[in-house]
Amino acid sequence: MRRPFIAANWKMNKTVPEAMDFIYSFLPSVEEVTDADIVIAPPFTALFGIAERLAGTNVRLSAQNVFYEEKGAFTGEVSPLMLVDVGCEYVLVGHSERRQYFGETDDIVNRKIRIAQKNGLNVIFCVGETLKERESGRTYNVLRTQTVNGLKDADVKKLVVAYEPVWAIGTGKTATPEQAQDAHKYIRNTLREVYPGDADSIRILYGGSVTPENVDSLMACADVDGALVGGASLKPDSFEKIVNFTRGN
Ligand code: PGA
Repeated sequence: MRRPFIAANWKMNKTVPEAMDFIYSFLPSVEEVTDADIVIAPPFTALFGIAERLAGTNVRLSAQNVFYEEKGAFTGEVSPLMLVDVGCEYVLVGHSERRQYFGETDDIVNRKIRIAQKNGLNVIFCVGETLKERESGRTYNVLRTQTVNGLKDADVKKLVVAYEPVWAIGTGKTATPEQAQDAHKYIRNTLREVYPGDADSIRILYGGSVTPENVDSLMACADVDGALVGGASLKPDSFEKIVNFTRGN
């Protein structure tokens, strides 16, 4: 049985005071949770303040992005060393918004994963097909290419994968449990080729319009091990409900 992993991706939302308000009301509501990993990915500006509040709690900190060099003349970028320095244990890499709006290729994603892991960060590695790719029957092909190319020489011990169909992100159109399970199973089979022997221990999260209402049916799928939550993670009560989804046996 893989330990559930529930992560909040706040994207470009919340000022520092707003982020701190969230943390103050959220932490007490999940302090009894011992059977899941809980991770929050705030914007860069809120990382430092939140890290102080999370110290000694059961909630871990993630960044939403990282650069693929350790230091130097890269104006505006943030290195893996800096993320570790402010208390991050995780970083999101390969999110479709990074691929779509910032031109991140599989090669860039792979460089980010390797340097993040080298510096001790665990990576939440996102893959997913667009609507056009799904409708033209290329879903498996896209998932396979992104997974194999993104994970070249990556460390399986510092890895969580997130399946996020692009057409389900922020649209309110969640994948059905059948669609999610089918894609997750395909990704796990692909992981078997990349990491023979380890694929069964890798957590694969579902992301794309996860809500307190649909989380139970998604988490009931055999290969869905957690959730990466955008919109519904912005309010403490709805994210708390997702963290406290109904456990099976
Ligand atoms: P959403 O975003 O839950 O708002 O669809 C998920 C994500 O992009 O990680």
